[in-house]
Amino acid sequence: MIEPIKWENNRIVFIDQTELPVRLKHVKCGDIDTLCEAIKKLRVRGAPLIGVAVGLGYALAAINSKEKTHGGLKKDLGRASKKMRATRPTAVNLFWALDRMEKAFLCHCKGDLAITRIKKYILKEALDILKEDKKMCIAIGRNGARLIKNGDVVLTHCNAGILATAGQGTALSILYEAKKQGKIFKVYADETRPLMQGSRLTMWELMQSGVDATLICDNMAASTIKNKGVTKIIIGADRITRNWDAANKIGTYGLAVLAKYHGIPFYVAAPSSTIDKNIKSGRDIPIEERNRDEIIYTGSKQTAPLKAKVYNPAFDVTPAKLITAIITEKGIHLVGEVFPRQARDDSRDGEQSRTKTSPTR
Ligand code: MRU
Repeated sequence: MIEPIKWENNRIVFIDQTELPVRLKHVKCGDIDTLCEAIKKLRVRGAPLIGVAVGLGYALAAINSKEKTHGGLKKDLGRASKKMRATRPTAVNLFWALDRMEKAFLCHCKGDLAITRIKKYILKEALDILKEDKKMCIAIGRNGARLIKNGDVVLTHCNAGILATAGQGTALSILYEAKKQGKIFKVYADETRPLMQGSRLTMWELMQSGVDATLICDNMAASTIKNKGVTKIIIGADRITRNWDAANKIGTYGLAVLAKYHGIPFYVAAPSSTIDKNIKSGRDIPIEERNRDEIIYTGSKQTAPLKAKVYNPAFDVTPAKLITAIITEKGIHLVGEVFPRQARDDSRDGEQSRTKTSPTR
């Protein structure tokens, strides 16, 4: 069983995802600076996993603190939280998890409760986030597997699998559950330029689990949908807003447009911790722009003129009206237009209700 993150002997142990698929390297992390660097460099990545990581990071900061007073510990934790909040802006799970950790700390930092007891409560909260994430992945998988039929051809983008969570993934969890149920289907995985999460990570984990998966370059998606009979697109999300717009890895929006043109359903799978009820629509989601070198170089090889002007947004926003349904641990929420034939058939089999209200978490 692949475990992208765990807590061992008061340390965070994570898989360095930048080394995959060549090497399965585990890193023992004992300080916040190492964790922040790992999140910025995408050694630890994927919205739910980032949430779990910063929860554990908060616990690590508490355990490492030498302060003997409530006020001193609060200052140390405040500094650690600020550093972690500055790592990546788009995945709301990061902020959700830190908000939850801060609330847990404040709730126990009262009266004359001993510092050691407070630290225990903080660690428990972080480990609860990790455990809940595992459970949420299974629930999303089971809910979404109802939409998978024998003969389906599924296209996915980036990595919304085991490596992006503490459990068995979101979008890919649906495929794992469908496979467990004996359903026969095929998957096409986009390589996901520029950092190749699709080819490096999704292909790696799908192959380990025996799912029938084929790798394509991003610019092959349209012709693959047309010529290989793709029946549905399933992806993850980094932030979903009150009106159900969804931010995900750059390239997702284009796939949603393609899905509409080809009349196939477009599904987003995410835990409810990815829903940001403070933000009304996708226009207000902060989109991370990353270093130009990620485009100028492919790996270590220079593949563009050094002085080329570069635009490198890491995410895009898919408007709700292009999303057929959002699958969470709570169920399947029909969102946008239900596309022709295929989606109508799916909805008879699995989808529950068209949600008119705003999401809750
Ligand atoms: O930049 P990344 O690799 O962290 O981006 C990850 C994605 O966009 C995933 O699709 C998303 O976080 C969902 S993961 C369950």
